[in-house]
Amino acid sequence: MAYIDSILKESRVFYPSHEFSRNAHIKSMAEYSKIYKKSIEKPEAFWAEKAEQLEWFRKWDIVLRNDMGFFKWFEGGYLNACYNCLDRIIKSGKRDKIAFIWEPETGESEKYTYGQLLKEVCKFANALKKSGIKKGDVVEMYLPMIPELPISMLACARIGSIHSVVFAGFSSDALKDRVQDSKAELLITADGSFRNGKIIPLKDNADAALKDCPTIRKVIVVKRANNKVEMTNERDYWWHELIGSKDVSDVCEPESMHSEDSLFILYTSGTTGKSKGILHTQAGYLLFAYQTFKWIFDVKENDIYFCTADIGWITGHSYIVYGPLSNGATVVMYEGSPTFPKPDRFWRIIEKHKATIFYTAPTAIRALAKEGDDLPNNCNLNSLRLLGTVGEPINPEAWMWYYNVVGKKRCPIVDTWWQTETGGILITPLPGATPLKPGSAAKPFFGIVADVLREDGSKANANEGGYLVIKNPWPGMLRTIWNDPQRYRHTYFEKFGVYLTGDSAKIDEDGYFWIMGRIDDVIKVAGHRIGSAEVESSLVSHEAVAEAAVASFPHEIKGQAIYAFVVLKKNFKKSEELKEKLKQHVAQHVGPIAKPDKIQFADDLPKTRSGKIMRRILKAIAEGSKGYGNIMTLAEPSIVEALAKNRVA
Ligand code: PRX
Repeated sequence: MAYIDSILKESRVFYPSHEFSRNAHIKSMAEYSKIYKKSIEKPEAFWAEKAEQLEWFRKWDIVLRNDMGFFKWFEGGYLNACYNCLDRIIKSGKRDKIAFIWEPETGESEKYTYGQLLKEVCKFANALKKSGIKKGDVVEMYLPMIPELPISMLACARIGSIHSVVFAGFSSDALKDRVQDSKAELLITADGSFRNGKIIPLKDNADAALKDCPTIRKVIVVKRANNKVEMTNERDYWWHELIGSKDVSDVCEPESMHSEDSLFILYTSGTTGKSKGILHTQAGYLLFAYQTFKWIFDVKENDIYFCTADIGWITGHSYIVYGPLSNGATVVMYEGSPTFPKPDRFWRIIEKHKATIFYTAPTAIRALAKEGDDLPNNCNLNSLRLLGTVGEPINPEAWMWYYNVVGKKRCPIVDTWWQTETGGILITPLPGATPLKPGSAAKPFFGIVADVLREDGSKANANEGGYLVIKNPWPGMLRTIWNDPQRYRHTYFEKFGVYLTGDSAKIDEDGYFWIMGRIDDVIKVAGHRIGSAEVESSLVSHEAVAEAAVASFPHEIKGQAIYAFVVLKKNFKKSEELKEKLKQHVAQHVGPIAKPDKIQFADDLPKTRSGKIMRRILKAIAEGSKGYGNIMTLAEPSIVEALAKNRVA
């Protein structure tokens, strides 16, 4: 609630400098308004004009078609996403331009030019082919932030196989669920990954997952940590041996892909326990990543762009790999964490590589602000010209710290709102044009018609909170949920007939959007998207637990944290030790990011007479508020008082 209280009081406005605006792609609000109007009046013409900037093997026949609620873009067109990210850039004279600067947790940084990256991608693409991977096969990746991750994604794109990256912080159970759902044929992993000076045994996790994944025929292992691993004969192969083989060429013809062929699946949490495989296809996704990156990050030839996201999330897909590379940009990617060895890791990386654009999450900003101003002040951050945030609402105090201390009052901040499903940024300031209000994601990007609706589908008034919806299709939108088209329709289109984001928001009198958070059972913990149901089903899988329900509560650094109410089975005793065990259980089954901060043992949960858990009551208790609303519909209203009395502070 603190965030909402603070945005209600927010009235400061910050303007881009004349110099920034003069040099920007979009220079003023007048220009924004003019292009925006055109983009929503004639969206097909707008996107077709932009699509001309990509290189096509065959031009499309039709820009947009609504196939019974499933949207198709650029049908009849053929291209290759990898070709557009590498060969097209090289052909424009940038063979020797740096594509990636990789900053590892231990060891020296590495640089890859576009020319070198293309060779590595081609070698690995050929290795994949030799391993039996063909167009349309799914390849799963469970890799840390090492260059082999973008290389393997681009190699898949080159030969037309579908990549599905699983965040390396996820547990083996989470990996298993995703591999089973995607029916991947090959898994790429590493012998280990580094985080906070420790080695995480990725290959061991993968081995545990693969016991129940019969579709996986081969595993390719990157040697990263010199960690001892077991290699299964005829299933497991070392990356370096595969690409080191003499008959693996560094030339690989790109596959000609239809615009609506699948490019990748990325799993994300929803309102049920099973995560959703979000499907993105070739042309529309690539175009949207390309165009949003170009204008929102206002990218220029000499920029050094540093994005701190993990490629295991959509931010890494769109704004470390496809968006920046298709623009021929130089990207810094890093391995490790923002606070190791010291909480100046980001500032040191910016100083070392003279980064000009920096994109991170509000959680990181809050955590680093807490360390004081000296750490950023002791580094030379003068190279910066633009800052960005993503993943969760940024509270105005954190925004001001970012603006004053990191950006030295010179750098506009783009607070970019979007989702795994949207493929790219939908609501955002444009840095050379938009006056900034701390805590607001500002206005819709070109071609996006966003609105806030009431429960009955009518339009909310200015400053009235409601459901954030997108009323028109856009090229980067998800095409379906993998193996579950019914769930796609139901989740996103059933309620209002237009795309339902799952967020609540309000629009102020100037047309600025203020995102207030999830309206469904998804919790954003430190910017990570976690389904309440995933944590609940993990808790009830423990032998001591009869029932569990989770809610969120505001957290100073993480934005939101998880509060779990747990009813134990009869013969188990409540103890602090058991709470700790349950937390570890969730960490092991889902991943450390899903660990509840607080667990309260309860004798019962508040349910309606028909047995439905009343979540709003649990949320009020978790937040320490008395605003439970009406409790008389409960089967047992006295439970509420008992729960509130035993609340974990
Ligand atoms: O609740 C919104 C929040 O993150 C959700 C999407 O999460 P995910 O699919 O993991 O993608 C995160 C990276 C794009 C949204 O439904 N969110 C994302 N960006 C913002 C945000 N909330 C407020 N402000 C943002 N800028």
